[in-house]
Amino acid sequence: MNTNGTIIRMSDIRKVYDTGKVKVEALKGIDLEIHKGEMVAIVGPSGSGKSTLMNLVGCLDTPTSGEYELGGQAVSGVSRDTLAEIRNRRVGFVFQNFNLLPHISAQENVEMPLLFGGVRPAERRERAKAMLERVGLGDRVDHKPTELSGGQMQRVAIARALAMNPDIVLAVEPTGNLDSTAGSDIMSIFTDLWKQGSTMVIITHDPALARRASRVVEIRDGRITADHPSEA
Ligand SMILES: Nc1ncnc2c1ncn2[C@@H]1O[C@H](COP(=O)(O)OP(=O)(O)O)[C@@H](O)[C@H]1O
Ligand SMILES: [Mg+2]
Repeated sequence: MNTNGTIIRMSDIRKVYDTGKVKVEALKGIDLEIHKGEMVAIVGPSGSGKSTLMNLVGCLDTPTSGEYELGGQAVSGVSRDTLAEIRNRRVGFVFQNFNLLPHISAQENVEMPLLFGGVRPAERRERAKAMLERVGLGDRVDHKPTELSGGQMQRVAIARALAMNPDIVLAVEPTGNLDSTAGSDIMSIFTDLWKQGSTMVIITHDPALARRASRVVEIRDGRITADHPSEA
């Protein structure tokens, strides 16, 4: 049970990629606790293990060894199906390239995780609409992604991430494909969500984005090398 507000608890997490020819130890013993209501930026140079860590945090992959609990639930060692269930219920993803389905409306995109989560149609529609309103897109529910700007697409993706009321919002370079104005809008939405109590984990190498977080965790060569409150 999750009694002390710890959302993420990783201990001695290791990840080895075995390609047959070579073994790459991408994570070499990660200890990380993230508490409810934190906004954490994970930063590090290319090849340091950010994507690998993101895949584990987001329940897209399992570690080679070590313990991971998300929202009090053990993640290490579960089956693929259980992993997918945990992911759909507990993690809201925001990706650099938005990952929206292009041929359906904003509303239908936001409904997608609710559909997989078994939420009934009427409630699905209502919740998706409320989420789109929350990110300022109440007047764009019927637009398809191709009929929206990059910033608006990312807002649809944020609404979709929030739809299942996840334990964490996990964002990967969320402003990477946006101009500075749209990027700044997205950062403001993240800050608002955080102030409203969402737990945010942002993987980025954008220092401006990292400064908006409450805490910055630096990773280098598969290890956490720094972990401190943000200066801002
Ligand atoms: N699927 C994979 N198979 C083999 N090696 C991988 C794989 N994914 C990542 N790696 C290696 O693991 C290390 C960390 O990669 P990654 O997590 O993608 O870092 P980052 O996202 O910080 O650039 C790198 O040395 C990379 O080459
Ligand atoms: Mg990467």
